[in-house]
Amino acid sequence: MKGIILAGGNGTRLRPVTFVTNKHLLPVYNKPMIFYPLETMRECGFEDVLIVSGREHAGDFSNLLGSGKEFGVRLSYEIQEEAGGIAQALALAEDFADGGSMAVHLGDNIFEQREQLVAGVKKFAEREDGAMIFIKQVADPERFGVAEIAGDKVVKIVEKPKAPKSNLIVTGFYVYDKNVFEIIRSQKPSARGEMEITDVNNVYIEQGKMAYNMVEGEWTDAGTFDTLLRASNLVAGKKAVK
Ligand code: G1P
Repeated sequence: MKGIILAGGNGTRLRPVTFVTNKHLLPVYNKPMIFYPLETMRECGFEDVLIVSGREHAGDFSNLLGSGKEFGVRLSYEIQEEAGGIAQALALAEDFADGGSMAVHLGDNIFEQREQLVAGVKKFAEREDGAMIFIKQVADPERFGVAEIAGDKVVKIVEKPKAPKSNLIVTGFYVYDKNVFEIIRSQKPSARGEMEITDVNNVYIEQGKMAYNMVEGEWTDAGTFDTLLRASNLVAGKKAVK
């Protein structure tokens, strides 16, 4: 299995800070944001990690991270010419995945504890079939992909619903088998013009091939000023800012 970190997008919710840099290069407490998903990938035991970023700041990622040697991984880089959604960015990883399965980490997701992610990847690696998501209970589910769960099954995921049916949201760490690229090819852009990862996940759910795990410990995204601050506080070991 290989690791993929998605670090593209325009970072519009962090303007003016992101006018001249990529969101994932901004500091989360004492390190650039991208360091955290990289650490997750290393803890999962992946030797090969791909970073997908936008064209404008791609050089900054290789300046910062180089071959990946200091992080104990071998890094590859891929460029998303224009931001068109998470699934579109993932589609660029097909050659890198080379017919195998993969873990995908959204570059702006910060996990306080990584044990569930590592254990999930290990479990998935036994069969390498279907997909796996990691779920967290939050106070503001309408900002995320919201999961409807019945027992040990995910029934459906709804992207940013106005009236969420649960407060269980899908975090930005996913595990996929090799079929994910075929599924992405069959998708169409959503109403907001993006290729949604939620649509891809719903195909796995319909096929009865989606497993889920609960995330323990604090979790946050870091794509707005409030959540970026929250991420820094989380890392600094302080109480998370609401
Ligand atoms: C994306 C996904 C969403 C997920 C979230 C986690 O949202 O579309 O399903 O819950 O990441 O951070 P976005 O960051 O594009 O708003």
